[in-house]
Amino acid sequence: MVKIAPSILSADFANLGRDVKSLETYGADWVHIDVMDGSFVPNISFGAPIMKSIRELSTLVFDVHLMIEEPGRYIEDFVKAGADMITVHYEADRHIDRTINYIKSFNVKAGVALNPGTPVSLIEDLIPNLDMVLIMSVNPGFGGQKYIPYCGNKIKQVKELAEKYNKELYIQVDGGVCADNIKEVVQCGANSIVAGSAVFKNGEIEKNIKVLRESI
Ligand code: DX5
Ligand code: ZN
Repeated sequence: MVKIAPSILSADFANLGRDVKSLETYGADWVHIDVMDGSFVPNISFGAPIMKSIRELSTLVFDVHLMIEEPGRYIEDFVKAGADMITVHYEADRHIDRTINYIKSFNVKAGVALNPGTPVSLIEDLIPNLDMVLIMSVNPGFGGQKYIPYCGNKIKQVKELAEKYNKELYIQVDGGVCADNIKEVVQCGANSIVAGSAVFKNGEIEKNIKVLRESI
């Protein structure tokens, strides 16, 4: 079953609670929380206090994507704020193995994200210890960008590694996924789909989630 994980980066921030609640009502699987620090990526979004304030509004899995430098510094804050899964960027952490183990020590699922320009081969040794690999299909920092086609090949490479190590893995794709390309990314091997603008466009969350599912 493919997990649909709407990114609340594209939600109506003035009505964030309403939008988060509606994701559950309208059949999303996870809530994707994009945290940006204005350093690792050129944009600032929100941090653990905002996440904590919406946690009680939903029983969905809170899937936290940390686009921040040296993310190990903030893991505990996001665990306390109610994260079920935490994904950190390979490029942002000098001690990625330590950070993965640190996340798992809280009984929270751990993921590693790769920017489009970062090769999948770099994380081969980490695969047996991971719960998720996130393939960025845009350069992170903003919602509403265009999907980068060569990332499909990277999704396939992650799937091959999962098979090689006989590891059950969430393979997540994030950036520019919409009704026109969701089938292709699932065929490549993605089983968790992040969608921001494609879910929240025109405020038609229910219809947009339905269209995405039907397009798989
Ligand atoms: C990119 C974020 C994504 C993004 C997805 O920096 O990590 O989650 O907001 O948004 P769309 O689906 O609009 O590309
Ligand atoms: Zn994300």
